[in-house]
Amino acid sequence: MLAIGCDHGGYELKQEILKHLDERNIAYKDFGCDSTASVDYPVYAKKVCNAILSGECEMGILICGTGIGISITANKFRGIRAALCTDCFCAEATRQHNNANVLALGGRVVGPGLALKIVDTFLDTPFSNDERHIRRIQGMED
Ligand code: RB5
Repeated sequence: MLAIGCDHGGYELKQEILKHLDERNIAYKDFGCDSTASVDYPVYAKKVCNAILSGECEMGILICGTGIGISITANKFRGIRAALCTDCFCAEATRQHNNANVLALGGRVVGPGLALKIVDTFLDTPFSNDERHIRRIQGMED
């Protein structure tokens, strides 16, 4: 199960991503927000991170205007590795190397075409399981 959340700056992109997930038959839980009315991104970052940390969801997607505020918030949660990606190279690398469990996107930064390719790359790329990457990820928590 994928957790997804956004603020008003990410709402329109989230709607595109939800359509795409439906087309791909990927199960998700949408934690809001539900319109372009102004809201605070930490609220939605927390909902998605808690869903992952509780085991309800395996991965998450978080979207705000830039992707910055929502990813900074997510990375304050121990065990969350949120990667703000603006291209497919980073989306692939952060799965392979960092075992990122949250993809952060900027709804005012990337267009929907690129964003959907980033989403697909992130979701379809497995962690490498290389010893050096496991050690470095462990090093984040020490
Ligand atoms: C909201 O206007 C905007 O600040 C927010 O979406 C995000 O870009 C924060 O980092």
